[in-house]
Amino acid sequence: MALLEINELRTEFATRDGVLTAVNGVSLRVEAGEVLGLVGESGSGKSVTGFSIIGLIDPPGRIAGGSIRFDGEELIGAPEEKLRSIRGRRIAMIFQDPMMTLNPVLRVDTQMIEAIRAHEQVSEQTARARCCEVLERVGIASPEQRLHQYPHQFSGGMRQRVAIAIALLNRPALIIADEPTTALDVTVQGQILYEMQELVRESGAALIWITHDLAVVAGLANRVAVMYAGRVVEDGPVDMVLDAPAHPYTRGLLESVPANNPPGARLRQIAGMPPSLIGLGEGCAFFARCDRALESCRQPVPLTPLPGSTAPEHAPRLVRCLYPINEMVTP
Ligand SMILES: Nc1ncnc2c1ncn2[C@@H]1O[C@H](COP(=O)(O)OP(=O)(O)O)[C@@H](O)[C@H]1O
Ligand SMILES: [Mg+2]
Repeated sequence: MALLEINELRTEFATRDGVLTAVNGVSLRVEAGEVLGLVGESGSGKSVTGFSIIGLIDPPGRIAGGSIRFDGEELIGAPEEKLRSIRGRRIAMIFQDPMMTLNPVLRVDTQMIEAIRAHEQVSEQTARARCCEVLERVGIASPEQRLHQYPHQFSGGMRQRVAIAIALLNRPALIIADEPTTALDVTVQGQILYEMQELVRESGAALIWITHDLAVVAGLANRVAVMYAGRVVEDGPVDMVLDAPAHPYTRGLLESVPANNPPGARLRQIAGMPPSLIGLGEGCAFFARCDRALESCRQPVPLTPLPGSTAPEHAPRLVRCLYPINEMVTP
């Protein structure tokens, strides 16, 4: 049994123009200790998938269908009390903006101790010791002094580290990190990526790393799932997907990564725009932008095992394409 098993998840928002299907039949599995990269352009439904898992979809949004099983338990429709006990303890989320986690008017120690005591009855002294230990683990020096400070006294990178520390406080089994380094400068990004990798390796937690940047998942993830227009279009071991993407969209994404292009060459961009998520049909959502598309692609296209793939059984290569690419990327 996988730690997290999502089947045909559907999350919608009521908008003035109609029902917007942000997550449109997403199925994903994450094993304990595994790092899954969830990749896709802005607006593809990555964050809404994360919020759905942790139970943070509020009206006008709603989970309209599917199943999210965490450690064998169904989360969709579970009582709020149950979700609250799981959130922050067994599943933690790190947001792009650390101030989604941090309260600007409270000292860091107040917030961290509260985060522990929301789930566990421990003495102030024990809680404080754990805060220091976790702050140190995320690369914050002199944690005793730092605990007395307010969020605004930390730099952007340090503030994100505090948010990561809070996520780690209760030793969660699953961490969902939603582009936590996107707003930081490149050096700090690299450091935090490296540290997160060490942290999940030490703790054995599973990690879903959400990013629009395929290059980021290359060194971090075991598996990658690529989202497009609210659907998973490709899923598999990270090296296999990056070396020989099967979905034309994944290949397009890879070709628009600067490092994959000869210096000085113009970056290739995927022509066209993603489709509207209001009233999107059942056919392939990439149809209008795809140079391989045929009439048959207007039919519903399921996510199926890639023919002839040598991927292991526990991490199969899946692709939502009738005419998948069958070749290596030529650098
Ligand atoms: N609260 C909301 N109300 C209406 N639409 C929303 C809301 N949140 C997200 N969406 C829409 O859902 C789609 C997916 O959003 P999101 O998951 O944030 O994308 P990503 O994280 O991949 O950039 C987008 O079209 C976005 O506009
Ligand atoms: Mg997002």
